[in-house]
Amino acid sequence: MDQDALKRQAAETAYQHVREGEWLGVGTGSTVNHFIDVLAERQPSLQGCVSSSEATTERLKAAGFEVVELNTAGDLPLYVDGADEVNAHLELIKGGGGALTREKIIAGASRHFICMVDESKQVELLGRFPLPVEVIPMARSFVARQLVKMGGKPELRENFTTDNGNPVLDVHNLEILNPIEMEDRINAIPGVVTVGLFARRPADTLIVAAAGGVETRT
Ligand code: 5RP
Repeated sequence: MDQDALKRQAAETAYQHVREGEWLGVGTGSTVNHFIDVLAERQPSLQGCVSSSEATTERLKAAGFEVVELNTAGDLPLYVDGADEVNAHLELIKGGGGALTREKIIAGASRHFICMVDESKQVELLGRFPLPVEVIPMARSFVARQLVKMGGKPELRENFTTDNGNPVLDVHNLEILNPIEMEDRINAIPGVVTVGLFARRPADTLIVAAAGGVETRT
């Protein structure tokens, strides 16, 4: 089964957690796009959606769903998103699609965070996937120098700015032995908007689609 089919299976399993009449937080990426396709097909009567990116907002609206600001919805019962890497503690690297800041905000505002992945995203040690760090433009070089001191090899993501108008540094070579400590250290660098480590607020439920079937872990 190809990766795309696995992502669709993960999305269908995540859909089983969607409740009519409630707010729904929706992440960003190709797995989430499958999830939005499932929403479009089933048309649940939601209170409304809160979106983590302009791209997701566009897709949700095209599928007929109302999208409101997080400020309007308040805390959310459920957030559904993908990830670039996940470890056994459901700690994640996110931000391959550049939506890490809004994703982290919505995850923080949600009582339940479901992460959908295909089996290729599971790792023992986070960090093989370059860690995305969104930065304030004037701090780009300064932050990069601090990341080098931490053993990383930051690369500016070419021709890319986030929905918040900021650049992203993709940090290679990091051995993330202690994800919470690393998240705190990078967050503490002045000029960092968000680091794509989701360790302080990991997923609550992980849905893994593999060739042998879909597994749900908490
Ligand atoms: C976007 C993200 C995505 O969840 C992550 O990049 C996974 O994407 P995909 O589902 O396309 O593999 O964090 O900022």
